[in-house]
Amino acid sequence: MPAEPKTSTILVIDDDSEIRYSLDRVLASRGFKVQTAASGEEGLEVVKGSPPDVVFLDIRMGGISGIETLQHLRGIAPKMPIILMTAYGTAQTAIEAMKFGAFDYIMKPFDPDRVISLAEGAVRAVEDMNRAGDYESLLNSDDYEEGIVGHSPAMQEVFKIIGQVAASDVTVLVSGESGTGKELIARCVWQHSHRNRADFVAVNCAAIPDNLIESELFGHEKGSFTGATGQRIGKFEQCDRGTIFLDEIGDMALSTQTKILRVLQEGEIQRVGGSETIKVDIRVIAATNKGLEDMVEEKTFREDLYYRLNVVRIRVPPLRERKEDIPEIVDYMLQMLEKERKIKVRKVSPEALSILCACQWPGNVRELENVVYRSAVVAQGDAILIKDLPEEIAGRPVETPAPEHVAVSTSQEASETKVADPVVGDASKTETGDQADMDPLGQAVDALYAELKRVESKSLLRRLERELVERAFIDMGNNQARTAELLGMTRTTLKKRLQEYGLAK
Ligand SMILES: Nc1ncnc2c1ncn2[C@@H]1O[C@H](COP(=O)(O)OP(=O)(O)OP(=O)(O)O)[C@@H](O)[C@H]1O
Ligand SMILES: [Mg+2]
Repeated sequence: MPAEPKTSTILVIDDDSEIRYSLDRVLASRGFKVQTAASGEEGLEVVKGSPPDVVFLDIRMGGISGIETLQHLRGIAPKMPIILMTAYGTAQTAIEAMKFGAFDYIMKPFDPDRVISLAEGAVRAVEDMNRAGDYESLLNSDDYEEGIVGHSPAMQEVFKIIGQVAASDVTVLVSGESGTGKELIARCVWQHSHRNRADFVAVNCAAIPDNLIESELFGHEKGSFTGATGQRIGKFEQCDRGTIFLDEIGDMALSTQTKILRVLQEGEIQRVGGSETIKVDIRVIAATNKGLEDMVEEKTFREDLYYRLNVVRIRVPPLRERKEDIPEIVDYMLQMLEKERKIKVRKVSPEALSILCACQWPGNVRELENVVYRSAVVAQGDAILIKDLPEEIAGRPVETPAPEHVAVSTSQEASETKVADPVVGDASKTETGDQADMDPLGQAVDALYAELKRVESKSLLRRLERELVERAFIDMGNNQARTAELLGMTRTTLKKRLQEYGLAK
C-alpha cells in the first residue's frame, strides 16, 4: 500500500497491549508512523517531546484517566486532534467526549476502516486548520469600533450618508430586508448625533398590538381604557431630547400613523384619554423592511407620513449585494464571540469561508451571524471547518454573481475592491433574482476556480478528485463497478485511485 504523501504521526495511548498492537498494525498499514504509550503519563511525555499529528486515547486507564490525560494534552497541544476510544457508546459518552474537546470518538471493538477514516479525517482537519491561518486577523480591531463592518462600496455609501445626516436633527428612514442591520445603522446615526448623551429608545411597532401601541408611545391617563389603572408616561415623553427608533413602521395602524405625523409636524403629543398637549423634543428614526411606496399606493400607509419620514433615506443593501464583506463580518463575529461568550474560535478554513461567501443569505447578516455562532460552538479546534457548518448551509445552492449594488460609488478604490473580489465575480452579468437558468456545475466550477486563485492551492485538483471518488464510492455502497460507471472511469483506473487514496479494502 502506498504511503501518505507526508508521513503523519499517530500516538496511541492505551494500557491494553493488544489494542496498542492492533491499532499500530492497522494504521502502519496505511503509511502512518505510529508511536504507542501504555499510560496517560507516558503519553504526555511523548507529546511534550514531540507532538504527533493525531492521538488515539483510551478513556479508561489505570493511573491518570483518559479524560484527565485529554485535558493535559489539550493544554500542551491545543490543536492536536484527539480521538477517544471507549467501550461504551452511549449518548452520554459521546457528549462528554466532545465536551472535553475530543475530535471524535470510536467504540471498541474497532472496525479497522473506521480507524483509518478517523485518522485521515483528523490529519486533513489539521491541514485545513493550518491553512486557515492565512485568514487570521483580517482587520485591525480598531476598524470595528462602530460595531458595523463593511468595506464594500455599497456599505461605504451607507456610512457616507450616516456621516452626512447624523449631526442634524433630520428624520431618517432606514429601509432594507430583514436582518440587514437596520437597527445597527439607526443606533449609529444616534451615536454620531448631538443627542448621543440622551436616550435611544427603540419601539418595535410590529410586536405591540394595535390597541396598545398608542399608550406605549404617548402614554395614557388613569381610566382612559379598561386596564388603565394609573397614569402612564409613554416613550415619546420618556425620551424627551433623545432619539426614538420606530422599528417596522410599516406595521403601524393608520390611526397611530396620524398621531405620529402630528409629533413630526408639531413636536407635540397627547396622552391617550388626556386633553393636555405636551411638547416633546425628539428625533425620529424609522425603519421598515416593507416597501412603503407600495403601501402608500395601496393606501395602507399615509402618504403624508411617508414624505415626513423619508426626508433622508438610508437603504441598507442586502448581503448578496456586498458579498465581499462576508469574510470581515465573519471575522468580526468571531471576535465578538470570544469577547462576549468566551468561545475561542478565531479562524475559518478557506473552504468553509468560500461556502459562506458563495451561498445565499435570505436572512442577511442576522442569518450569517447565527450560522457563525452555531458553527463556532461545534468547532473542535480553533477554526471553523466545512464539517462544522450547519447542514443546510453546506448543502445550500450558491448564489448567482452579485448584481450591481444600488448605491453608486464612483471612487477608484471602490471599483478596485469589486474587481479584486474573487467571490462576487462579474457583477455586470446577472440581473437581480434571475436564477431560473442557473447551471449548478458552472457555479461550482466558478467557486472552485475562485478558491484556487485565492489560496493558490497546488493540491486542489488532487483533493477534488479524491473527494469525488470517496463520496461516490461510499454512495455506491463500496461497489467498484457502479462507482467506476458513475465517475466515467475504467475499473482499473478506479482501483488505482482507491489504492492511492487509501480507500481500497
Ligand atoms: N455590518 C454589520 N457588521 C456587523 N454586524 C452586523 C452588521 N449588520 C448587521 N449586523 C448584526 O446582525 C444582526 C442583525 O442586525 P439588525 O438587528 O440591526 O438588523 P435589522 O435589519 O434590524 O433586522 P430585522 O429586520 O430582523 O429587525 C445584529 O446582531 C447586528 O449586530
Ligand atoms: Mg430590526
